[in-house]
Amino acid sequence: MKIASVVGARPNFIKLAPVHKALARNPEIEHTIIHTGQHYDFEMSEIFFKEFKLPKPDINLKVGSGTPGYQTGEMIKRIEKVLLRSGFDLVMVYGDTNSTLAGALAAVGSKTRLAHVESGLRSFDRRMPEETNRVLTDHISNYLFASTRTAVGNLRKESVQGDIVYSGDLSVEIVDEAVRAGAKSDVLDRLSLEPKSYVLLTIHRVENTTASPHNLATIIKAIKALKDTTIVFPIHPRTLKAIKDSRHLPALSRCKNLRMIKPLGYVDFVKLARNASKIVTDSGGVQKEAFLLKVPCITTRRNTEWVETVDLGWNKLVGSSDAQAIIEAVQKWAPVGKKPRAVFGQGKASAIVRDRIVSLLESKIEEN
Ligand code: UD1
Ligand code: UDP
Repeated sequence: MKIASVVGARPNFIKLAPVHKALARNPEIEHTIIHTGQHYDFEMSEIFFKEFKLPKPDINLKVGSGTPGYQTGEMIKRIEKVLLRSGFDLVMVYGDTNSTLAGALAAVGSKTRLAHVESGLRSFDRRMPEETNRVLTDHISNYLFASTRTAVGNLRKESVQGDIVYSGDLSVEIVDEAVRAGAKSDVLDRLSLEPKSYVLLTIHRVENTTASPHNLATIIKAIKALKDTTIVFPIHPRTLKAIKDSRHLPALSRCKNLRMIKPLGYVDFVKLARNASKIVTDSGGVQKEAFLLKVPCITTRRNTEWVETVDLGWNKLVGSSDAQAIIEAVQKWAPVGKKPRAVFGQGKASAIVRDRIVSLLESKIEEN
């Protein structure tokens, strides 16, 4: 059974890790990892392969950065070539990045069956490139693994044609493992931080960086105003570029409350997240992780695909055009009442994905 996983960006590698481990337990599966090259800095790519003990990608297509059309187009061409040459029984894609959509379109083009892990999520905001990537990928997938019951409902409402399975979300098992591994992480000492004495910040959405100088300036205004709050900010390369281009870097460097650091590896990041008093973010993965770690999350977006985190009171959507809303949430807001529930499944997603794939592929192989 020949399976290819197409990955390219940080969240893809993190999701690949438990799936690869699960697939590796079945000797009949030959798993090939195709890296598109969307992310290429050590801290955005290789660090995760090392940390999760993933094998080096079998193929790196080295597409790199570019406009969405260039990047996705180049990926499709190069992935399709590999798929046509090597003949796989299944292509797997993860999440909602350009690498996800490119892998999906190349699978369809090369008449290879397609599985989408983390399918069915919707922000219902088509201004986000990720929303387009999710919708298109879901509608051309043969096998759809949904992270939440809401995601299953979204897929049914859209009448997608593939086989839908509720798997739960991979983050449950990934975060658990990272928390265990975090016992050995010295990230708090390295950064001279006491537990619960700081806010963790991550920002990288297009709408908060390159596409909106106003939103970026608003977030920066909030950082400056929160001068009595230590803010730790592992900076995504897109955000660093936007900060430099908009000439905010000198002023931010002077902010005594702000610790700008390079992106971290996963175990260090989860340890930092777990020990934060609050998290401010526009990341999809980080909203989920905050919920699983029971850390209040303030999301600088107007909407989210992880609606359960908001409904259960652990995530507050504050947008990114009103600095006061961000400041007040950091200073005053706290989750009330509701306890986090197991809305992301029981931590068995990778085994569920593998078992379903094996049984579906076996039945297809018998049919042929
Ligand atoms: C991508 C995904 C986004 C995901 C994010 C995770 C899409 C449309 N977006 O956004 O869904 O949340 O990854 O981190 O696929 N850059 C570097 N080094 C790198 C990678 C990027 O310097 O290793 C810089 C380049 O200037 C590049 C910019 O970051 O142009 C944006 O990178 P890109 O991969 O296009 O999008 P992300 O913002 O990373
Ligand atoms: N992450 C990390 N190091 C960092 C910042 C984030 O390991 O410095 C992890 C984080 O835990 C998250 C994952 O990277 O689950 C992907 O997050 P990102 O915000 O890049 O993408 P998104 O989830 O929004 O697609």
